[in-house]
Amino acid sequence: MTETAEAPATPLSLTGRVALVTGAGHGIGRASALALARAGALVVASDLDLEGATETERLIRSAGHAGVAAAADVTDEDAMRAVVDDIVGTHGRLDIVHANAGVLMAGTALTQTLDEWDKTFTVNVRGTFLTARAVLPQMIEQKSGAIIITASVSGLIGEPDLAAYNASKGALVNLTRQLAVEYAEHGIRVNGICPGWIETGFNDPVLGHLDSEELDQLVGQQVPLGRQGTAEDIAPSVVFLASDWARYITGQLLPIDGGLTSM
Ligand SMILES: NC(=O)c1ccc[n+]([C@@H]2O[C@H](COP(=O)([O-])OP(=O)(O)OC[C@H]3O[C@@H](n4cnc5c(N)ncnc54)[C@H](O)[C@@H]3O)[C@@H](O)[C@H]2O)c1
Repeated sequence: MTETAEAPATPLSLTGRVALVTGAGHGIGRASALALARAGALVVASDLDLEGATETERLIRSAGHAGVAAAADVTDEDAMRAVVDDIVGTHGRLDIVHANAGVLMAGTALTQTLDEWDKTFTVNVRGTFLTARAVLPQMIEQKSGAIIITASVSGLIGEPDLAAYNASKGALVNLTRQLAVEYAEHGIRVNGICPGWIETGFNDPVLGHLDSEELDQLVGQQVPLGRQGTAEDIAPSVVFLASDWARYITGQLLPIDGGLTSM
């Protein structure tokens, strides 16, 4: 009988796994870090904002789980390598990476400044690429690993006033597939999540001008489930994709959007 002939052990568990989450100081990254830790992983919560990452560490530990904060800018190749070296030096392995850090700046093809375009691509695309480059050598050595990239429904469709952001998330959609194809032979799975409208404050540049009635109306029109999502709506899918329960899933993009992209 092959190793994969049996269903994975029940219940889903990440015990013994070591995980890195970028952009873990707030929002989706924090919820993902907490959920991965709750499932048993030791989680390194990294962010540009060390204060936010430290609060995530505190939340993980106060819930009785294992977590540690790290300061790192995903656009800095040396910084990302140093975080990974530190994880491997301390814990001996790195099994799960949630490449999640991102930024959003509103603008159309004509109003978006070149500076905003460059900054968006530097954090969202180069940052995710450098995160993957930093972790892949260790995963190749281990012959296993799960990378989850936070793309977005914005990478699957066009939307008003999000020229740079949607183009950058579109790049992440195909970076996910590309990495999945390139590293499958090393036992590494790469999948993307595509959140819809999630209440983290991240969308303030495009939604901040709406009052609550206007926002409810927009969400009512766009989201079949009739509400914005929360970071906690996203985290379970990250845990699933990180786990052996998803062992035959790679190169996929999972919309978690209340039905938005089915409209
Ligand atoms: N909120 C949404 O509606 C939504 C929808 C789809 C996708 N996303 C994506 O989810 C991810 C997280 O967004 P969020 O909603 O949790 O927003 P958030 O602002 O709460 O979190 C983003 C985090 O990324 C960190 N960050 C920014 N630049 C960084 C850098 N250079 N290096 C390291 N960390 C950096 C920030 O400090 C912050 O903690 C982003 O990639 C975003 O594009 C969000």
